[in-house]
Amino acid sequence: MSGIILCRSKYGTSKKYADWISEETGFKVIDTKDADIKEVVNHDFVILGGGLYSETIAGIAFLKKNIGALKGKRVIIYCCGASEYDEELIGMVKNKNLKDGLENVPMFYFQGAWDLDSMSLGDRTMCKMFIKMLSKKDPATLSKSVKMFLDIKDKKCDWTNKEYITPLLDLIKKGEGK
Ligand SMILES: Cc1cc2nc3c(=O)[nH]c(=O)nc-3n(C[C@H](O)[C@H](O)[C@H](O)COP(=O)(O)O)c2cc1C
Repeated sequence: MSGIILCRSKYGTSKKYADWISEETGFKVIDTKDADIKEVVNHDFVILGGGLYSETIAGIAFLKKNIGALKGKRVIIYCCGASEYDEELIGMVKNKNLKDGLENVPMFYFQGAWDLDSMSLGDRTMCKMFIKMLSKKDPATLSKSVKMFLDIKDKKCDWTNKEYITPLLDLIKKGEGK
């Protein structure tokens, strides 16, 4: 059984999860931007992991483009966001990302980190604008996963935890995936 982990991570948390999955499975990790579908199809398992930026999973375009070539492979997706786990958020992320042939691909959500200071200027500006916009809304109208951004604001947070990968590893052990 062979596998490959394709990962796109701007700030390192999705990569940290990729390395933990690699430690447990022996699957190699490569940056999705360097992935070549001719090499990827040589593996039984294809795991695509990426940071969540404005609800879009980094690197998902590679999978959408190549899902036809991955027929019969076990494909699994994970994404890493700052929000705490929330069914409403996961539903939204699935609706936005699992399209164009990816509808039945299992997806996992792992909580990542948040640090405005480490972000690029463009990202920091966008995130500050998002928080400012939220602060003008009635908190009662905000979902749990969105309201938390008003609490964390400019705090440095790191929620990464190796235990989050257990259900994904279980799926691999069972030989499942799309
Ligand atoms: C521009 C930008 C947009 C983001 N949008 C979301 C989001 O929609 N939902 C969320 O939960 N976290 C969001 N985050 C937080 C990141 O998903 C979080 O920091 C994650 O750990 C980043 O993964 P990485 O370290 O692999 O880059 C956003 C961060 C940035 C910089």
